[in-house]
Amino acid sequence: MSAFRTIWTTEDNYVEVIDQRKLPHEWVVEKLVSYKDAERAIKDMVVRGAPLIGATAAYGVYLAAREGANMEEAFAALRASRPTAVNLFWALDRMQRALDNAENLVETAWTEAGNIVEDDVETCRMIGVHGLPLIEALSQQKNGETVHILTHCNAGMLGCIEWGTISSPIYQAVQKGIKVHVWVDETRPRLQGANLTAYELTRHNVPHTLIVDNQGGHLMQHGMVDMCIVGTDRTTRIGDVANKIGTYLKALAAHDNQIPFYVALPSTTLDWTISDGLKEIPIEQRNQDEVRWVVGKSKATGKLDEVLICPETTQASNYGFDVTPARLVTALITERGVCAASEEGLLSLFPEQRK
Ligand code: MRU
Repeated sequence: MSAFRTIWTTEDNYVEVIDQRKLPHEWVVEKLVSYKDAERAIKDMVVRGAPLIGATAAYGVYLAAREGANMEEAFAALRASRPTAVNLFWALDRMQRALDNAENLVETAWTEAGNIVEDDVETCRMIGVHGLPLIEALSQQKNGETVHILTHCNAGMLGCIEWGTISSPIYQAVQKGIKVHVWVDETRPRLQGANLTAYELTRHNVPHTLIVDNQGGHLMQHGMVDMCIVGTDRTTRIGDVANKIGTYLKALAAHDNQIPFYVALPSTTLDWTISDGLKEIPIEQRNQDEVRWVVGKSKATGKLDEVLICPETTQASNYGFDVTPARLVTALITERGVCAASEEGLLSLFPEQRK
């Protein structure tokens, strides 16, 4: 679907990723040659987005096997790289299971990491297949007028391998000739909306407008948003959704204005072991300097630069994610179909998870 993927292997069987910290201004490719490179890429957000974090960790296991590292240490380091996106733990568990009875660790890890990547591509494509009718229905209700979709953070292809989760229905709608327009929350402090979502929508010719994070409520009150779609880093078995900080406020505003609020997710983002998102999902706290300093292209030099936006001594708080309770989610869009954000809804699509 896309002209590029977010992670790929090289001729000498190493792994390459795009340094997403530099987008949209610079296209820098980083080669990962050891598991520590993969660990650092996840920790420092060279790569980010739940499915891509999982895929990178999977290749981290392969790199550990290839360099003859202590596998226990490698697994532990990769597990500790970021706490909230459950795909990381899902991918590492899947790699562990594959390696448990493997004769050749390197070959098995290579194959399994490749499978994780290919599975994600197909999963995201299917999220699009199931999400498309929701956009199509709104378009029909509006007699073919533009459907305005609000999104937060980046749950596009850059957070996955190809297609993305929220972007898959949008790209498939555009391919079908449905008129859409995306309101892109800039997503402070790391600006995944401004830097990444706007970038990939531009590359895919999808009409969009960048907005400050606090604008959504106003747009919703004035009938300028037809639907919201966001991604998730971890969704509980009852449908509580952890996603980038600020998602909850969008869900509240959508609820108050009777605007459908959808969450698009691969089943790899479901954490069947927990129910209460507020109590049980670990919320990452990142360095306060991500809030105090803004990174962007300097007007003066045309190069990437950092600018302090508060007094030198002001301290900042930086929770990376928040939890949107299931009651505020209109429906979940998964690779198996669309369901209510509830245990019964999820179990109707994933009956194998019944206890
Ligand atoms: O901190 P990030 O950039 O890794 O956070 C990403 C998100 O919150 C995404 O919305 C989520 O991972 C879904 S990606 C398909």
